[in-house]
Amino acid sequence: MGKVPHIINAIEFNRNLIDAVLDRAAKIKCAFKNNSWITCDPIAQQRMHMLEGRTMMLLFDQPSLRTYGLFTTAMRALGGNVDGWQNFSRDTSISKGESLQDTGRVISHYPGVSVLVIRHPDDRAAVSLARYSSVPVINAGSKLEHPTQALKDLFTIREELRKIDNLHVVVTGDLTGRAVRSFLCALSYCNSIRVSLISPPRLRLELPRDVKSFLESRGIQVMENVRSLANVVKDADVLYVMRPQTENWPVNSRAKVQDRKEALIHYFDHCGVTHQVVENLPAHARVLHPLPRTDELPTYLDEKYGAYVPEPTSQLAFFRQSDNGGPMGIAILEMLHSGEWAELLK
Ligand code: NCD
Repeated sequence: MGKVPHIINAIEFNRNLIDAVLDRAAKIKCAFKNNSWITCDPIAQQRMHMLEGRTMMLLFDQPSLRTYGLFTTAMRALGGNVDGWQNFSRDTSISKGESLQDTGRVISHYPGVSVLVIRHPDDRAAVSLARYSSVPVINAGSKLEHPTQALKDLFTIREELRKIDNLHVVVTGDLTGRAVRSFLCALSYCNSIRVSLISPPRLRLELPRDVKSFLESRGIQVMENVRSLANVVKDADVLYVMRPQTENWPVNSRAKVQDRKEALIHYFDHCGVTHQVVENLPAHARVLHPLPRTDELPTYLDEKYGAYVPEPTSQLAFFRQSDNGGPMGIAILEMLHSGEWAELLK
């Protein structure tokens, strides 16, 4: 099996790896200016053939817009091919009881296959697949982890604020979401980080204990149960907003539609971004959101606070964060294929 590098969770990162992948993504972003992926830059031209003859296999079991889109387009931008399944467990022999280990062993030996990208609700899926895969496995979102989203988040912070150290980061909303866990774990490799957390008090969506302990063990100051979002953002550098992950909320058959409606009203009242919240943010601070968004980040704020501004100059940075998935996806694929990723993990 050898030492194949995999991307399974954000805790496995280290600062050298983070700096290197952010640097690479920045160079790529620069080469492909204005998001026009057609370029005359000779290095970028070379890049367009880098993965010719290689194939990425996508094993997706949950819906995805950004992550699916960024990996497929990144692979093609490097000259590679993409194939795979959007209903992976249903449409492969997994549905007949085949194990992920066997599946990983088989798929990774198809001609030209050089990377597997899996999105699966079970955290063990990517691990099992990786165990017998002869090529890198990327976890593109599991129950608890979303490591590549975390790299995109850190890249965006560096693009917007020119630093990833000395930050006060406020996270608001459903703190049980996988994007939050991976973002905070990756952030723990930065220096002098302070985190303030706010979740809807009646809905039990606090940050899981193990993440809090991990952050504290890495010297991060964590302030939980913040009462007022509008107040805590006054000295924030980053406001990270999460949508209610309702698909993961326990289904109570007796719960009336009304209960869910009330829960969401409570959520948006307590954790939603409003005019007041953005007005209270320092001018340099940025609002991030992994997307998709619902009413926690209402569209009526978009025009006024620059959601559509392409340069890193306006407070609503979440579309730029989404766009940063392109260069980040390319950077990850380049570094996995060149062996740099494996070197940096040593
Ligand atoms: C996130 C996810 O799927 O976990 N989205 C993403 O990958 N950009 C966040 C979410 O769904 O809320």
